[in-house]
Amino acid sequence: MLHFVVILFVIFVICVIFPELYFRTLTSYRTTIGVGGPYPKPFWQGLQFALKLNRENIFTHLRTYAETFQKSYAFFGFGMVYVHIIKAEDMEKILNSSKHAKKSFLYSFLVPFLGDGLLISGGTKWSQRRRILTPAFHFNILQQFLKIFQEESVKLSKKLFALDPEDRGIVNLPPLTSRHTLDTICETAMGVKLDSLEEPDAYRNNIYSTARLLVDRSLQPWLASDVMFKLLGYQEKLDKCLKPIHFFTRKVIQQRRGKILEAGTTPMASTNEDIYSEKKQRYAMLDTLLGAEQNNLIDAEGIREEVDTFTFEGHDTTASGITMILFCLAGHPDVQQKVYEEIRGVREEKNGAPMEIGDYSNLVYTDRVIKECLRIYPPVPLISLDR
Ligand code: HEM
Repeated sequence: MLHFVVILFVIFVICVIFPELYFRTLTSYRTTIGVGGPYPKPFWQGLQFALKLNRENIFTHLRTYAETFQKSYAFFGFGMVYVHIIKAEDMEKILNSSKHAKKSFLYSFLVPFLGDGLLISGGTKWSQRRRILTPAFHFNILQQFLKIFQEESVKLSKKLFALDPEDRGIVNLPPLTSRHTLDTICETAMGVKLDSLEEPDAYRNNIYSTARLLVDRSLQPWLASDVMFKLLGYQEKLDKCLKPIHFFTRKVIQQRRGKILEAGTTPMASTNEDIYSEKKQRYAMLDTLLGAEQNNLIDAEGIREEVDTFTFEGHDTTASGITMILFCLAGHPDVQQKVYEEIRGVREEKNGAPMEIGDYSNLVYTDRVIKECLRIYPPVPLISLDR
């Protein structure tokens, strides 16, 4: 019996007392005391708190803290200080400071998925890739994509209208909106029509499972180490999801490369000066990358990383934005009516002619509704930077 008590005591000291004393010696622990955030929790309570956190409640926890403290605040968790910025003025200081340009370790979890693409890379690699890609996102290039945006939007509204009126009360929007945005990003940025491929559904389903695994990993500190992630079987699950995702993006690249070879055209990589010039021919994102490959500025794996980054960033954010905007409009029929009337008014002025890019700036109320929905339900609710 005595042996048992001694063993329990030793376990208690190793698992609770030692980590507690260790954390209390950290500057980060002391830094968070008295800066207007939650008082640093003792190790054991911190662990209990971490065990309760999940995908569903993390956002609400942070919102509750924001409401309680009414200002940007700091909190301590597992050896690190986190600063939750909730005021635009504080964010401005951070974004303007080169001290805070480094992405946090959480982004390393995305590497097996997105490689070292723009979202994750830093330093010269990031600057060089940004220089290659910036011309592909010049405002003028949007003009040539307008027709695709309009065609894809008509397809989405037809799908919504085609729903059985009995079911229209409850609609599971994400599969519809993400199909719409994936088609749009592939046709605009990649120049590939998805109707011609069979894999988009597998891609979207696996993106969903990948996101779940990665969010779980960022919420459970014991999964941070690669060894534990592998030992607990998560790595295998992740690899299974990533295989069809990378297969899909490689196929998109292959198809575009084939089309360019067939047409005998050579997309050229733009230079920095081209960004502002009106004369140069602009190419969609993938063509720009393929042009850069011919100039030895990027290799095939680099192209795959950027295509994965843009396909994911470009379709998932916009799909959740559209989903939440439709959700908000459904809950506010008066606002919905005003948006409808404004769009109708602009359409009538056009006398049936298709809307041009300048006509969208007349949708002032609709623009404000979209921005307010994005503010209340941000598609990217948090980013994480290291100092
Ligand atoms: C409502 C839509 C969107 C929202 C709310 C959004 C939000 C964001 C945010 C917050 C970041 C910074 C992420 C971080 O540092 O962790 C980011 C980065 C990025 N986004 Fe978006 N995004 C949207 C649409 C798009 C689209 C349509 C594309 C592609 C066509 C795109 C491509 C990217 C890329 C490549 C980056 C990394 C940029 C870099 O670090 O240089 N995003 N986005």
